[in-house]
Amino acid sequence: MQITTIILAAGKGTRMRSELPKVMHKIAGKSLLEHVYQTSKQIPGNAIKVVIGHGADFIREKLSYLDVCWVEQLEQLGTGHAVQQAAGQIGDDDIVLVVYGDVPLLKFSTLQNLLGLSSQESLALLTVNLDNPTGYGRIIRDGNGRVQKIVEQKDATPSELAITEVNTGIMAVNGQKLKKWLAQLGNNNAQGEYYLTDVVAMAATDGVLVSTCQPQTGNEVLGVNNRLQLSGLERLFQQGQAEMLMEQGVTLRDPLRFDLRGTITQLGQDIEIDVNVILEGEIKLGNNVSIGANTQIKNAVIGDNVEIFANCVIEDAVVGANSRIGPFARLRPGTVLAKEAHIGNFVELKNAIVAENSKINHLSYIGDANVGSHVNIGAGTITCNYDGVNKSRTVIGDGAFIGSSSQLVAPVTVGANATIGAGSTITKDCPDNQLTLARSKQVTLSGWQRPVKKDA
Ligand code: UD1
Ligand code: CA
Repeated sequence: MQITTIILAAGKGTRMRSELPKVMHKIAGKSLLEHVYQTSKQIPGNAIKVVIGHGADFIREKLSYLDVCWVEQLEQLGTGHAVQQAAGQIGDDDIVLVVYGDVPLLKFSTLQNLLGLSSQESLALLTVNLDNPTGYGRIIRDGNGRVQKIVEQKDATPSELAITEVNTGIMAVNGQKLKKWLAQLGNNNAQGEYYLTDVVAMAATDGVLVSTCQPQTGNEVLGVNNRLQLSGLERLFQQGQAEMLMEQGVTLRDPLRFDLRGTITQLGQDIEIDVNVILEGEIKLGNNVSIGANTQIKNAVIGDNVEIFANCVIEDAVVGANSRIGPFARLRPGTVLAKEAHIGNFVELKNAIVAENSKINHLSYIGDANVGSHVNIGAGTITCNYDGVNKSRTVIGDGAFIGSSSQLVAPVTVGANATIGAGSTITKDCPDNQLTLARSKQVTLSGWQRPVKKDA
């Protein structure tokens, strides 16, 4: 059975009050449309068509990686009109699944249930019962409980408005039948639109069974129309992710103050995450990792037993086992720490490879550097990696000791077990095993007197 999914995403989203097309707004760092796409993509052999209108060029360009066929709806004349734009790409024997680009939390299992219910001879409709059905199309059933039609809020009579079973807009139906009904749609209704929902009445008239199922929770079919709803769905999504992590053995100090904007591709045991931690991109976390409050980690590999203290920012970096990071440390892209590293407060590393057991504990900038093992870098050390035009590398040998407040002017090499005296500005390579100093000699002037205040 060929499934063709049509994602409706042409609407403007006026109530977002945004330059950005509505479906490009994000939940958990990913656009609404990508959420719907990725869920639909899980259906094997699915051919996905996306109907776009407002911001069409922008969407196509930003999401050019999607394996979809873009269909343009030049004027937004209603959901029925939107589906009609894709009619040329619907095969007679396809099962056509219609979903909305602004309903991002829909689950794959719900789509599977709906598809399981569908057949070439029937129309399957996803409905939901809402305490407050305002704004939604109401499901009208006959005395035997058979679905007769859908009536939009604006076209409904008072008794119809009292119905709490509503249309989610999501349906699955045979291609040939759908195309026939689409061609018959009119716009003689309160909104002057071509309603997709009118195909339900046509199905009933043609004697085609309309079967319904419901999602596990109503949350799945909530749509985004404004920024309040966007934030509500963000929290629901994050809560779902937090629950999944806790089920897998992660301690979250407060699941309401945790954000995952990406995927954890490796998850160890006994991980502890304090409040306001943001994980982004692709993250690997080893066993016994603990992450302090207010820390942001993006695209990183964190080894076993790593302690990350509060207020760290880590991006495109690897942290070896048993390392201690922060508080207030920044690991920028290209940082690779072997095991047992100690990176302390106000230390910034960029494009730096640090071998095992090395310490950079206070107030340092180490950029474009190779640091050996068992190195101790004193407070306030700076690798001067940039001459205003080019970047150069600093190489520090195993066992070296860099005295506090030193500047290493790259390109420069400090030998193995070398010692650099505090306050040195190193511009030439330093030999192994020796003390190198590059600072003015200390002098004491005997007989010097402090000036005294002149008489007024
Ligand atoms: C629609 C349904 C309503 C249902 C509700 C669920 C119709 C007529 N009504 O109403 O029964 O309860 O969804 O949320 O279908 N779109 C286009 N092109 C258009 C118009 C809409 O692509 O010309 C897209 C929108 O971008 C949006 C989706 O279709 O993603 C739904 O459109 P919207 O205007 O929000 O429909 P509702 O009035 O909410
Ligand atoms: Ca809507």
